Amino acid sequence: MISSVTKSARLLVLCAASLLPSLMQAQTDWPTLGATPGNSHSSSLHQIDRSNVARLKVAWTFDTHEPGGLETTPIVIDGILYGLTPTQKVFALDAATGEQKWTFDSTVKATGPSRGLTWWGEGNEHRLLVGIANFLYALDPVTGKAISGFGHTGRIDLRKGLGPDPARVSIALTSPGVLYKDLIIVGGRLPETLPAPPGDIRAFDVRTGSLRWSFHTIPHPGEPGYETWPPDAWKTAGAANNWAGMTVDTERGIVYVPTGSAVPDFYGGARLGDNLYANTLLALDASTGHLLWHFQGVHHDLWDRDFPSAPILVTVRRNGKSIPAVAQSTKQGVLYVFDRVTGKPLFPIEERPAAPSSTPGETAAKTQPHPIAPEPFAPQTVTEQTLTNRTSETHAWAVNRLHELRNEGQFVPLSVGRDTLVSPSFEGGAEWGGPAADPETGILYINANSYASLGALAVYHGDFAGRRTYLTQCSVCHGDRRQGSPPEFPSLLGITQRLTHDQIANTIHTGRGRMPAFPLEGKPLDDLLTYLDTSPDIPSKETGEEQAGTSTGITEPAQYTMTGYRRFNDPDGYPATAAPWGSLNALDLGTGKYLWKIPLGQYPELAAQGLPDTGSENYGGPIVTAGGLLFIAATNFDHKIRAFDKTTGKLLWEHTLPFAGNATPITYSVKGRQYIVIAAGGSSMNPRGPTSGIYVAFALP
Ligand code: HEC
Repeated sequence: MISSVTKSARLLVLCAASLLPSLMQAQTDWPTLGATPGNSHSSSLHQIDRSNVARLKVAWTFDTHEPGGLETTPIVIDGILYGLTPTQKVFALDAATGEQKWTFDSTVKATGPSRGLTWWGEGNEHRLLVGIANFLYALDPVTGKAISGFGHTGRIDLRKGLGPDPARVSIALTSPGVLYKDLIIVGGRLPETLPAPPGDIRAFDVRTGSLRWSFHTIPHPGEPGYETWPPDAWKTAGAANNWAGMTVDTERGIVYVPTGSAVPDFYGGARLGDNLYANTLLALDASTGHLLWHFQGVHHDLWDRDFPSAPILVTVRRNGKSIPAVAQSTKQGVLYVFDRVTGKPLFPIEERPAAPSSTPGETAAKTQPHPIAPEPFAPQTVTEQTLTNRTSETHAWAVNRLHELRNEGQFVPLSVGRDTLVSPSFEGGAEWGGPAADPETGILYINANSYASLGALAVYHGDFAGRRTYLTQCSVCHGDRRQGSPPEFPSLLGITQRLTHDQIANTIHTGRGRMPAFPLEGKPLDDLLTYLDTSPDIPSKETGEEQAGTSTGITEPAQYTMTGYRRFNDPDGYPATAAPWGSLNALDLGTGKYLWKIPLGQYPELAAQGLPDTGSENYGGPIVTAGGLLFIAATNFDHKIRAFDKTTGKLLWEHTLPFAGNATPITYSVKGRQYIVIAAGGSSMNPRGPTSGIYVAFALP
């Protein structure tokens, strides 16, 4: 606890800060996940610059002593750093020393990602708004105590209002809410399969927690877009949710909301139509939630192509004019740029014919949008020429394997009985770290994954209940035969010999890492656990597979399930496409041309064999500073944080972290000293190594 003297001093400072928010915050703080409401990921600090960055040293570390990984970008307000532990305890530190001031333990069991927090201040009122699992908490930033006037004893339950029985709703606030005046606007992570609640975008009063507006991403009767779904979809469909965060143009009062796909992700027979406003960039009036304009990036998505990060506000300079714009990166590896006010694309977007689906009951969209510029930042096609060259054997293996695959470019619906190659992979392309934009130059920096995935559908009939639940809700990650896809998705074969039914039920109820919580109870849960007891190799006639209407008496139509996320990897476990497998790209938005492009990340064992430029899978974004630097960690296997010259892409400094920094770094200054901080705990997107929960700060000696 801090003394009451320092406490009132702190209040005075906080008041001063809120009187001069732009001055104080622009100069020294990192007040929101993306640095600014527009998510610029930029700072005007320049004490650390090209000439001295090589001398950066660790200033302090803060170990939460919890395993589990971190995807958190902390915030700094007036010398205090606020962050989260892997189990979503909230803490405040002295940002200059790393000394802990308070910690808040909600006692809610939470293990998934929580990517940040929101600080709100007006006059002498201040609060921290934090998503912990399915709750939104309001905390006093000085004491770390829940503010009782907010919702019910300091928190609201985001499950309420999303279905008849809140206990049956799965939602987690993995990205922090955004502010507009006295509103906190939130989405949430929802399941990838049915049942899932609708992805309503909701604005709550920051003081009381009461609901002020709600936008239906699955339109109700009479709302525009309703005609892009079957008539009852607003009651039966789910998701089309915002899990990736949002961006606010505070001057214009517009909130930009990117949404993900409707569920189930890979078979849309029960949601025929374009499915507005799934996979859509929404521009909403931030005061009312009214739709101003929208752009759908994938019609009737069958590839889990969620918009993966909050968009970024930029100013595009063209023919001597400055155009306020919003840029949205995608898992497909393309970037869309729009006029912020009108939604008019700044680079033409073509609707091109797309492949039909061969799966009964499915109708793929006839066309899909393609921006003709800028050039994609991740490979759109895979040919023999773009397969791995790591060794001649792996190349030959990959050529053979490629011939077995459906490999026809973007937007080819998955089919039964044959794998389809999806490039870039289901993990993108771009991911949740989001880009950085340099206000001095208008250059946009995007990191990307650059390898391919495989996907297929399997048919099943309405056979016995436990297996049905498994195939509809679990197989997308754990595989249709429970084989998983280690290390990303564990196998569940023999799981009931390793874990008790209670332990498994517990994991199902709380979720874990990338696995959302499933509110399964009673008989459906018991049936699922019984199914997990069985061997997956029981002959199909005993399970009723392919035997519908005969042995089981079930006459339901066939259902289709995704057989599980898989990588197009070589037999040694490296991507079977050509390196680089991860990249960092500097794009001039005025011309749509790349200034530079470099591999990002290494596999230490391959670097040791003379292959340092492979790039690697990476999660977490870059930040750009007035010191001429671009800082990024993100890489899964080398655990490094790096600083590049933002003009040339030249590596100027690197440091090996205790665990991978799968998060976006921040920079701020306290008493004239500039710091860089990164959460270095690994993450659930990076399951190969042990995880932890350490924050590391750097400064000049
Ligand atoms: C969106 C992907 C996803 C879905 C859907 C999913 N899981 Fe998981 N599951 C995971 C991941 C990833 C892990 C490993 C999490 C970690 O340790 O970080 C996991 C872990 C588990 C574990 C613990 C395994 C072990 O070896 O300790 C069990 C049990 C499990 N899941 C069961 C289920 C069941 C049952 C369902 C369906 C009701 C399900 N999962 C649905 C992704 C998923």
